[in-house]
Amino acid sequence: MAERGELGEPTGWFAVATAQELLGDRVRPSRIGHHELVVWRSVDGQARVADAQCPHMGAHLGDVGSLKDGNLVCGFHGFSFDGDGACVSTGYGGRVPPRACLKMWPSIEVDGVVLAWRHPEVSAPSWTVAPADASGWTRPQWNTSSFAGHPMEITENSVDLGHLQVLHGYASLDQPTSATADGPLLRASYSFSRPWRLAWPPAPTLDATIEVSAYGLGFSRVELHVATIGARFRLWVLPTLSGDGHVTLRLGAAARLRLDDDAPGPLRRFPPRLSAPLLRGFTLAGLVGDVAQDRKVWRSKRHLSRPALAPGDGPIGLYRQWAKQFFALPDLAASPDPS
Ligand code: FES
Ligand SMILES: [Fe+2]
Repeated sequence: MAERGELGEPTGWFAVATAQELLGDRVRPSRIGHHELVVWRSVDGQARVADAQCPHMGAHLGDVGSLKDGNLVCGFHGFSFDGDGACVSTGYGGRVPPRACLKMWPSIEVDGVVLAWRHPEVSAPSWTVAPADASGWTRPQWNTSSFAGHPMEITENSVDLGHLQVLHGYASLDQPTSATADGPLLRASYSFSRPWRLAWPPAPTLDATIEVSAYGLGFSRVELHVATIGARFRLWVLPTLSGDGHVTLRLGAAARLRLDDDAPGPLRRFPPRLSAPLLRGFTLAGLVGDVAQDRKVWRSKRHLSRPALAPGDGPIGLYRQWAKQFFALPDLAASPDPS
């Protein structure tokens, strides 16, 4: 049995900001584990991630940094940094100290999310995250929360078939194809039906399929097809360690603008630019509601390195084996997967 802190800090790509959080030339504080970070968009439009501490005298650039002419400027003594972290000027003119460089983190922007590469030796990224094709889709809508948890357990949720029935009340659960692990990418798909929980608007039980693609422990994208209403959604589950056994979880949802050709007539009468954001909002609310149920478990559960798996659990054994590559977990070998 392991406390969350004993799971350690996994390597891989982790969300540090959404593109929306950087709008208006904002400089954002962020963190991965115990690393305090600053995120901004440099003059070339690229999102940048660096250690938050100013190399001059240690001010927190997420607190006192601002953007000027595309450079990140520290509000303490006016040192200015370009997109590569090089100091281009001090607040007083004159010579720039050679050691006044920001420590940069490798970063990429995928599906409107800025991801930073976390590795204990800060080595160059050894894999990347494939973006989804966003044409014909709404922009993602985001919900961010912070609570006690670990990416290992949150990402495990997407392959934990049993809890979908018992905790979330899904029915008719089926796994039409086996889950696969290929390097850092784990794929799984399911079909299920779920009762509509909201009092309004009234809706029938929804039949749906999901396809999960987990790129490491910090970035899961879920393609959701709700056949009952002929709608397709894309969900994101992005847990990032934020220190002291806590996690920052960004949940996202986008909706495809076009409904299926056999979608119910009343829905098709709405213009997509009106119906798609509405459906996206309901879907995100459903995801946030599911996570609220999960959090009641996560807040007090322990990580069992040798779970007593049973038929019906889903591909937990495969997940545990796959997850080993992201950190050296002691004694992680799970029981054989009986599902
Ligand atoms: S601490 Fe940032 S410029 Fe001095
Ligand atoms: Fe869950």
